[in-house]
Parts: sequence; C-alpha cells; structure tokens
Amino acid sequence: MKKIIIAIDGYAATGKSTQAKKLAHALGYTYIDSGAMYRAVTLFGLQRSKDKVIDLDGLVRSLNKIDIRFKYNEEIQQTFLNGQDVTTAIRTVEVNNKVSQVATLAPVRTFLVKQQQRLGMNKGIVMDGRDIGTVVFPNAECKFFLIASPKIRAQRRYKEQIESGIYESYDDVLENVKKRDHQDRTRKTTPLKKAEDAIEIDVSNLTIEEVFHQLKTEVDIRLSYLK
Ligand code: CDP
Repeated sequence: MKKIIIAIDGYAATGKSTQAKKLAHALGYTYIDSGAMYRAVTLFGLQRSKDKVIDLDGLVRSLNKIDIRFKYNEEIQQTFLNGQDVTTAIRTVEVNNKVSQVATLAPVRTFLVKQQQRLGMNKGIVMDGRDIGTVVFPNAECKFFLIASPKIRAQRRYKEQIESGIYESYDDVLENVKKRDHQDRTRKTTPLKKAEDAIEIDVSNLTIEEVFHQLKTEVDIRLSYLK
C-alpha cells in the first residue's frame, strides 16, 4: 500500500504526541517529534549559557555543531544530542521556559525544517509540531490541527510532569502554556497557524480514544483513495 505523510500540528499539550505515536503504531509508520528537535537545540544553548541566559547569536553561529538523532527503542523515541541521550533532559522546566524563544529564530527553523524534510523523504511518517502541515510538509496527504482550552492543556501537562517526576505548580504550568502559545502564534517566522486543508479537532472534552478514532477514520479514508 502507498505510504503517506501525516502532519499533526496544534497548541502545546493538546496530546499531539500521544496521538501521533498511536497512529504511527497502528499504521507501522515512524513517529517523529519535531518539538524534540527544538528542545534539543534549546538544551544545547542552555548547556553553554551563563546563568541560564542563552546567547542566541552564539547559538545561531554554532548550529553546525549540533547533531540531533532519534533512535527507536520498542515504542519509545529516544533523542540524542551530539551522541548523548537527552530524552529526559529536554523535558525540564528550564527547557520548557526557553524553547519557544529559540524556536522564533529563523536560522534555527531553517536548520531543523531541512532535517525534518529529509526524515520524511520516504513517507510513512507521522510528524507532530507547529508548522508541519504549513511549512515542513505542505503537501502532506493528511493534516490535523488540535486545539483545547489553555486550562485543560495545563491540567494535562501538570499531570504528565508529576508522573515523570517534574514538580512545578499548576499555575506555573498554565503560565508557561499561555506564554508559549503567545510566542508561537506571534513569532515573525512561520507562526503557529492551521493549514487551510487541515482538519481541526477541539480535544477539550474528548478522551484519547475518541480523538484517536477521529484521526484514524480520516487517515483510513485517505488511504482508501490511494490503494
Ligand atoms: O509537547 P509540547 O506541545 O509542549 O511542545 P513540543 O512539541 O515539545 O514543542 C516545544 C516548542 O518547540 C513549542 O512550544 C514551539 O515553540 C517549538 N516548536 C516549533 O516551533 N515548531 C515545531 N514544529 C515544533 C515545536
């Protein structure tokens, strides 16, 4: 059967990665978390920073020293930065707080978009992010855009963080979600927006299974045209 590209974009903590992983698993496709790449570049900047202030110009000049790779272990995607496993290190509060600032930098976006496009060259991928359906793969056969209220998203992220041992107050999580939304929506280079041909789903009152059912149904319709 012909393979396609599935793009899942949307706001922070709408469950994009959960859905992308489930879809990839169901279809035998590769899941690629583009946010992990922005997070890895941010971590690289933080590792070289003084007092956690990232030298943005220096970071842009050092992009050629950044090598990001993914490895797939069972169903877990591991992220490697210059050979070091940073799967957990890219999910810290420090990275959460800086990543959207780093993601506003046009050279960083160009650098990562090229790599994302290479990863999708042979199709058969599900990629989640902010600009996958608009910039990275404008011709993706299937595009989704997930939205939900900031409070619901913050509750979700708060619970996820506690489960993985990251302790941050609910109010701070909500603040971070809102701040990142604002930075992602208002940045000059390719701001977060729904692709015209993306299917928008408000996941606020839906379970993971309900959202998955909607996505899978749409994907199956497209795949049936291509047979
Ligand atoms: O999982 P969560 O929604 O918290 O975010 P993520 O997918 O890990 O992405 C972290 C940040 O990277 C986002 O808030 C964006 O600022 C940036 N990003 C982006 O600009 N473009 C992408 N394709 C993916 C992430």
